[in-house]
Amino acid sequence: MKPNPRNERGLAESAHCFESAAPPMNTAADSTMRYREALELLRPRAQDHVLRWWAELNEAQRARLLEEIASVPWDVVDRLIPSHVLGRPATPSLANLQPAPVFPRTAPAGKEAYYRDAENLGCKLLRETRVAALTVAGGQGTRLGIDGPKGAVVVTPAGHRTLFELFAAAIVEQRRRSAAPIPWYIMTSPANHEQTIEFFRARGWLGLPREDLFFFSQGMLPAFDRHGRLLMEARDRLSLAPDGHGGTLKALARSGGLTDMRRRGVEIVSYFQVDNPLVRPLDPLFIGLHARTGSEMSTKVLPKAEDLECVGNLCLRDGKLAVIEYSEFPEALAHARNADGTRRFDSGNAAIHLLNVPFVERVSGHLLPYRRAEKTVPCIDDEGRTVRPTAPNAVKLETFIFDVLPLAENPLLFQIERAEEFSPVKNPTGVDSLESSRRDQIRRACRWLEAAGVAVPRRADGTPDVDVGIDPGFALEAADVAAKRERIPPLRAGDTVWIE
Ligand code: UTP
Repeated sequence: MKPNPRNERGLAESAHCFESAAPPMNTAADSTMRYREALELLRPRAQDHVLRWWAELNEAQRARLLEEIASVPWDVVDRLIPSHVLGRPATPSLANLQPAPVFPRTAPAGKEAYYRDAENLGCKLLRETRVAALTVAGGQGTRLGIDGPKGAVVVTPAGHRTLFELFAAAIVEQRRRSAAPIPWYIMTSPANHEQTIEFFRARGWLGLPREDLFFFSQGMLPAFDRHGRLLMEARDRLSLAPDGHGGTLKALARSGGLTDMRRRGVEIVSYFQVDNPLVRPLDPLFIGLHARTGSEMSTKVLPKAEDLECVGNLCLRDGKLAVIEYSEFPEALAHARNADGTRRFDSGNAAIHLLNVPFVERVSGHLLPYRRAEKTVPCIDDEGRTVRPTAPNAVKLETFIFDVLPLAENPLLFQIERAEEFSPVKNPTGVDSLESSRRDQIRRACRWLEAAGVAVPRRADGTPDVDVGIDPGFALEAADVAAKRERIPPLRAGDTVWIE
């Protein structure tokens, strides 16, 4: 009972696609045999309740349930139930935290030539196809409350562009500038894999050659009740969730993604999340600094919006670079100040990383720490009735990509300006929302336009009075706008304008 890799148009894309992974079950005898196998697996683990409704399931439902059972990484689950579901994982000591050194976005005095050379090196690595883009898009997007891939959500203030379209436009433009076939790796989950591919296919692969897109699917883990029993979403379905963005490393190895990178000569992966419309997917200066300093993994960091902002804190723990989640970060340290009044720990995780391919190969077999989260998960009860709990009823387990940072040689932190590069879409409204991100996109577009000498209508309180957006194909950074000044129409108050 092992899931098979699925091929889509002959390309290796997924190692975990449960729906088409099952060998067809032709006969009732087949199904009975597989039922017995499943029972043998489940009974010693006291998880055989998941087969409770077997007698009333049709053959297709049985096949699906068996396939889901087979997809569970039982060795991991056996290990995690006592330590992480029934118990609490040991947290590493936070006694010895120190701020980590950071490279600023603009060259400090005396370092101008160093930065210039680094940027040139970044451009050269892009031209030589030694860098690839990688988007993690396997999350469930529960806070946004969407059905389907988050990358397919329209996020721009004008132009009706989706997240995937924005990233694709930036990659197409960088390919044009570099005159190189820069590949793009996209991690999905079994829950959105097909829909993601269909989204790209229906839009002509978003202007990219099909052979330079590599879709791969991450692993799933079951949700548990507090007694360590697997929760069920329906009588024929386990309650499964993606295993966290830390799953990228294993999924890349398993899917053939790493082999594909090797084949193309890719040495550095530019990793970003699907939810940030302001991200620069391929940043030559960041890439160049990463390569020049011999870093195996580099991370963009943000000055924090407030002491207790809900972002991970990049700092040194026992001399090693690590991300300490906001929920674990000691409050006294979050409020600590330097002699000049600035925040002592001021490196928030922007979730934009560069990872060397040999580093990924080295750590992909490494066991990342599992994080335990108590969540509210709709499920069925022992009578098979759907329950919609109002308080957390489930334990979910995930690994995080940044937990490999302490294993990296010469890790580098690169400070970015939040308003320029970071405004994630996590919620429909409020902080980190569709609403706040649209506002931030307009503000950035207006800054870039004004820097190029374009008049921007503003309200009395100074906020832009125009819904304007700039296509990444038109400008990847402010300087590009100045170079195309004559192509920009005059902006009138109340206009909705997409500049492309
Ligand atoms: P989030 O932690 O914001 O989770 O993921 P999410 O699933 O998108 O949203 P919620 O928490 O359900 O509302 C940050 C990034 O990591 C990816 C997401 O797709 C997003 O790009 N991710 C997260 C994965 O690719 N796989 C995962 O298992 C979890």
